[in-house]
Amino acid sequence: MNIIVPLSKGLKGTFQVPGDKSISHRALLLSAIAQGTSEIINCSRAADPLSTKNCLEKLGIETYGTMNQLKVIGKGLRGFHQPETLLDAGNSGTTIRLLSGILVGQSFASTIAGDESLNRRPMKRIIEPLRQMGADIMGTENDTAPLTIQPVKELHAIEYVMPVASAQVKSAILLAGLYAEGTTVVLERVLTRDHTERMLGLTTRKESSYWIVSVEGGKPVEPQQYIVPGDISAAAFLMVAASIVEHSEILIENVGLNPTRTAVIDILQSIGANISIEDKRMQNGEEVGNIRIHSAELRGNLTISGELVAKVIDEIPILTIAGLFTGGVCSIRDASELRKKESDRIRAIVSNLRALGAEVEEYDDGYAFESPREIKPATIESYHDHRIAMAFGILGLRIPGITILNAECVNISFPHFWDYILTNQH
Ligand code: S3P
Repeated sequence: MNIIVPLSKGLKGTFQVPGDKSISHRALLLSAIAQGTSEIINCSRAADPLSTKNCLEKLGIETYGTMNQLKVIGKGLRGFHQPETLLDAGNSGTTIRLLSGILVGQSFASTIAGDESLNRRPMKRIIEPLRQMGADIMGTENDTAPLTIQPVKELHAIEYVMPVASAQVKSAILLAGLYAEGTTVVLERVLTRDHTERMLGLTTRKESSYWIVSVEGGKPVEPQQYIVPGDISAAAFLMVAASIVEHSEILIENVGLNPTRTAVIDILQSIGANISIEDKRMQNGEEVGNIRIHSAELRGNLTISGELVAKVIDEIPILTIAGLFTGGVCSIRDASELRKKESDRIRAIVSNLRALGAEVEEYDDGYAFESPREIKPATIESYHDHRIAMAFGILGLRIPGITILNAECVNISFPHFWDYILTNQH
């Protein structure tokens, strides 16, 4: 499906974004390994969390109700059945990496893989620490999926200093730690999203230059009610849309504001965006609030490098679109992780920006450009990557003549995205 994006005269009204994708995955996984029935309110019904749910169903987990109000019958840490077929994680890195942390603790063999994009992404980052814990997990010769996991007698705790800033890797180790003998400790230089820790009731402490979290082997997971807030990474697209399209004033309701996720707001405010938080509250262990955005004249340089990269890793595509309108320099560095996402996002962004007439320098770890004087109409290749399709889709609200190819990939995280863009229904 290709979408010709209509220009917007101004976004108005109240918007809802899907339930947070990261929290939805974790709520499904933790409910499945809890002993008893959990309830998940506002679980995202996007394709990625559905991949997690499908894998759990193949492992013998029963669910009832809709994603809006889902009951999950947990079977305890070791209550899964051996799946009859390969577990299909679809496009979802979170599904394959987090679920692998649980599968290595089971008493049966399993194989998990995904689509073409997921099967190209690096899995050594979980294979290595899980093997250090005693797991029997094998990828292809390039350390990519399919991953085959064989049962082992026991796993043991490790102390692991994270070589990459990755919440998926951290979470895989913590989940495997539930199955290990002893106390598993993870040390991060940059604190990445900490939803797993919060949901498991673990506390993170800062010691010299590390964030440290530990989990006890055998710790049972309690069944509970999870209330999933709206996804700030989805809201980011609407924040930039309302900022760059004149005459906009919108409210995005009930968005997760976990401090490891809110740097996108700080960065937009630093280039002049008019964004305010209303009705901030705690809900189910996570900060939540409403976000109000008025259109604004963006200005200045937009620089994302160093530790900031991990804090906005999913928002860099849409922040780059904001960077087209500041009249300054947009520079993204230290971001080679972007090449390992659903697409090579550095390549995807650079080639699409060039198609729009921007003069862009590409680096191994990022790119830089000056806000172009003129942006030309262009056909945008999404590379089947949801965040690339949505970022350039937002640009099309402000710049005429933008067509997005293979636009259906937004289903991965934001199924009603094009409804908002095309019909302004909200
Ligand atoms: C996620 C962590 C991030 C992020 C992804 C979701 C998570 O990935 O990009 O969309 O839910 O833990 P990395 O851990 O690979 O940085």
